[in-house]
Amino acid sequence: MIILLVLALLPFTTALQNGLALTPPMGWLTWQRFRCITNCQKYPSECISEDLIKRTADIMLSEGYLDAGYNYVGIDDCWLEKTRDKRNRLVPDRERFPNGMKAIGDYLHNKGFKFALYQDYGNKTCMGYPGVLGYEAIDVQTFAEWDVDYIKLDGCYVDISKMDTGYPYFGKLMNESGRPMVYSCSWPAYQKKPDYDSIAEHCNLWRNWDDIQDSWSSLSSIMTWFAENQDTIAQYAGPGRWNDPDMLIIGNFGLSLDQAKVQMAIWSILAAPLFMSVDLATIRPEFKEILLNRDIIAIDQDSLGKQGLRVWNKSMTEIWSRELSDGSYAVAFVNRRDDGTPTVMKASFEVMNLPEQTYKVQDLYKEDEDRFFGPDGEFYTRVNPSGVKYFKFVPKISNDVEEKTYFTSRI
Ligand code: GLA
Repeated sequence: MIILLVLALLPFTTALQNGLALTPPMGWLTWQRFRCITNCQKYPSECISEDLIKRTADIMLSEGYLDAGYNYVGIDDCWLEKTRDKRNRLVPDRERFPNGMKAIGDYLHNKGFKFALYQDYGNKTCMGYPGVLGYEAIDVQTFAEWDVDYIKLDGCYVDISKMDTGYPYFGKLMNESGRPMVYSCSWPAYQKKPDYDSIAEHCNLWRNWDDIQDSWSSLSSIMTWFAENQDTIAQYAGPGRWNDPDMLIIGNFGLSLDQAKVQMAIWSILAAPLFMSVDLATIRPEFKEILLNRDIIAIDQDSLGKQGLRVWNKSMTEIWSRELSDGSYAVAFVNRRDDGTPTVMKASFEVMNLPEQTYKVQDLYKEDEDRFFGPDGEFYTRVNPSGVKYFKFVPKISNDVEEKTYFTSRI
């Protein structure tokens, strides 16, 4: 009796503990490619609408994206009417979502997808639509009624000091709603010194920094930020809780093929959520192939959930390395130089952060032959300007290998 009383008086736990996102969530999101296009007369295939979502889901199903793991389909900002209804409920844009959001949820679920939706903790979303502040409970209930599976909660139009209590409060309401929903927080992206202990306790994933834009310079700056802040943030990543460097821009206007390979490689090293934001109806096949690279997706989704690090950085060449659950390592050699010829990079075990043993080395983009690499060698590879060579180092277990392919030669 006394024990029960004590338990009842203990503060209730507000931690998220929803058992979701045990590997980084994957899917597709409108924002980076389609932004806030709301004029469907002028841009019928690009406006944020029921049609865009259905069309994308159909392609994701028929062209293997769902099979590869991209199972969340998400609507970012600009899906709302500018005012709430008489009962203070959010109203989806009546012209662009004529059947409402429950119908979108049903459509996605029937095809095997999950439904992701954007809102904002402040008075307004970043693009000026109604935010949740003051209506948190009613909005969580509405999302649950629409069968939403994932909420991205942005942080525009709110006093940032309120976030430390506001984001956990919203997460608590999500927990209490009875519907399991992934919680994506933009909380740390808005603060100078975020409390990552609290963020990792209350969110499944969180945007750490600036929005990605459709360019190599933006991608590059995000990589630099994640490397320079890795000592602070990497420790918080793990099953159910992920740092989020933002959407994949692969297949859009700004990246070359080599640069697109860099994003896919580094995002998988970072154990990043993989949200494509691209027109899947018009994407070129060589970019699609990068997004559907199963070996790289498997690294991103590795069950250990350990975020990789930039382990070496000199003269604009970098090595990034991630330990995997089966004892293998993913190692990316990135060349950020722009001199017009590939750069030779070499690395020792120490530099790559690898235990010294013999490995079978697989080129994850299949540009080089598989090879063996052992204690007596230094690893050499040649990397294109603003490009990557990405390998999986698998510890060699059997002896029946072709030792003559043992790789020690120089390039
Ligand atoms: C912020 C977010 C973006 C996107 C836009 C929408 O900038 O960081 O990811 O959601 O708002 O307005």
